[in-house]
Amino acid sequence: MPEQQHLDIDLHVRYIQQLDTHKDDLSYHLTEHLRMNGVYWGLVALCIMGRQDALDRDEMVRYVMSCWDEDMGAFGAHPKHDGHLLSTLSAIQILAIQDSLDIANTDRLVKFLLSLVHPETGRVAGDRWGETDTRFSYILVSALSLLGRLKDLDEALDGKGRQLVIGHIERCRNFDGGFGSDEGSESHGGQIFVCVAALAILDRLDLVDVGTLAWWLSERQLPNGGLNGRPEKLEDVCYSWWNLSALSILGKLHWINEEKLIEFILESQDLEGGGIADRPGDWVDVFHTIFGLAGLSMLGYPGLQDIDPVYCMPTVVTERMGLKKEFQMLPRRTA
Ligand code: FPP
Ligand code: ZN
Repeated sequence: MPEQQHLDIDLHVRYIQQLDTHKDDLSYHLTEHLRMNGVYWGLVALCIMGRQDALDRDEMVRYVMSCWDEDMGAFGAHPKHDGHLLSTLSAIQILAIQDSLDIANTDRLVKFLLSLVHPETGRVAGDRWGETDTRFSYILVSALSLLGRLKDLDEALDGKGRQLVIGHIERCRNFDGGFGSDEGSESHGGQIFVCVAALAILDRLDLVDVGTLAWWLSERQLPNGGLNGRPEKLEDVCYSWWNLSALSILGKLHWINEEKLIEFILESQDLEGGGIADRPGDWVDVFHTIFGLAGLSMLGYPGLQDIDPVYCMPTVVTERMGLKKEFQMLPRRTA
């Protein structure tokens, strides 16, 4: 058997540091709509590797604040972009990790967030144009919780806000224990993370059929060790986050073959340029880099910092903010 690869932390730190230096590339401009998410993914990846200071804190905070959309009362993905829920959660997470959340315009943000809840169905939209998805239900709940304003959800919509949001998530639960993007949509690892994590924040994990869901999630592991997000799909490193975080919240991380999954993630590293790809041999990107590292962290890989599976932020941060919920981590191994 070949010797197991190791995680090249220095190389991955350099990969993340150089992501913002290709401003002449076309792809840099084509991905502008994901820039705020990209900064958040890069920052959390660095935190997991214990190298948070590898990107300049003040410059990052200034960048986040330059993405504020005054008309909308939310953060956009890049300066002058319209505010959107996706970039707003990333902005809040970055500010929280950098201990600068006090400079966010909390009242305006809360107003924006609550305006996205449908008053009858409890569906949540991503912006005022209206596409709805359980991803947005999670983002709403996570953002309000990080801002310390979940009580505003209780008071919203004639006192029915919290129950409306919970009711919609409950209606997205399927016979296989999983959750989809809307009522009647098929179960999917990513949607399971958002629904389970939102229910964890709202203290309503009683709505999850733990045994059935954990079985479905553990069935996502393929013979090569990687996880897929739905039956019959290819394995992909990002499901080492979406599926494992849900298993961690449900206390069933050990239902996965950890050795095989660690090996699959390590094989997906680019050991020349740094970064982690969706599967061995593919191009790397920062999205699969953070989620590969997060998976390794939850599996107890040596030398990494703990990640909170509910908020996808360093556990030291959610502990400092008094938001940490119960979840399972495999014991940190020694190198
Ligand atoms: C899979 O997407 C992932 C999801 C559907 C969940 C996305 C969740 C968020 C955006 C909420 C914020 C997330 C965090 C970590 C704080 P995909 O479109 O790649 O799925 P595919 O594999 O089916 O293409
Ligand atoms: Zn992926």
